Amino acid sequence: MKFFIDTANIAQIEEAVALGILDGVTTNPSLMAKEGIKGKSAVLSHYRKICDLVDGDVSAEVISTDFEGMIDEAEELIDIADNIVVKIPMIKEGVKAISHLSSRGIRTNCTLVFSAGQALLAAKAGATYVSPFIGRIDDVTWDGLDLINQIVEIYANYGFETEILAASIRNPLHITKCAELGADVVTCPLSAFLGLLKHPLTDIGLAKFLEDAKKTA
Ligand code: E4P
Repeated sequence: MKFFIDTANIAQIEEAVALGILDGVTTNPSLMAKEGIKGKSAVLSHYRKICDLVDGDVSAEVISTDFEGMIDEAEELIDIADNIVVKIPMIKEGVKAISHLSSRGIRTNCTLVFSAGQALLAAKAGATYVSPFIGRIDDVTWDGLDLINQIVEIYANYGFETEILAASIRNPLHITKCAELGADVVTCPLSAFLGLLKHPLTDIGLAKFLEDAKKTA
């Protein structure tokens, strides 16, 4: 399973890289705005900074909602670095753009996916990644993990190569459940990855070992 960090915050990306567990980064316009990035050239140079920090894929999202605009933005984004993946929303023009880009060998991440039908369309269009937003589904009292399960089954039935990138992850349990279900990738805030570390028995055990080590010093 690949671990992507879902942020545009450089310090957090650096921390995840230093942990040695990071396979990539996803961003979105809200995460860029949160970092105070303003203006097209600032956005592009921020992506460049992120791409320099990580070896793995970096999803950069288009903001156009028409086919031509998405393709123009995609051209600019892929010029930044080889590890850019163009993130495109699951709308009609987006499906067209994914299909066009994938026929040219340009990698895409189909975002804002909330149903199995949308995930099927993304795979048919040739998306490299599909991003079901499980936390936002949970937020409206449906079960985001059910969607992951459905997509895993559908993609396996037909051998689709699109990777399932479970997004909008809220906690470490989401990560382990996605791993059980066979999602290819999880993208999360750093806090969710760090949450995987926690176990009270680890803390108690370590305290005891350190205490006993003093006896052998
Ligand atoms: C995915 O690529 C999105 O950036 C992200 O996971 C959305 O998460 P949120 O629901 O926490 O905003």
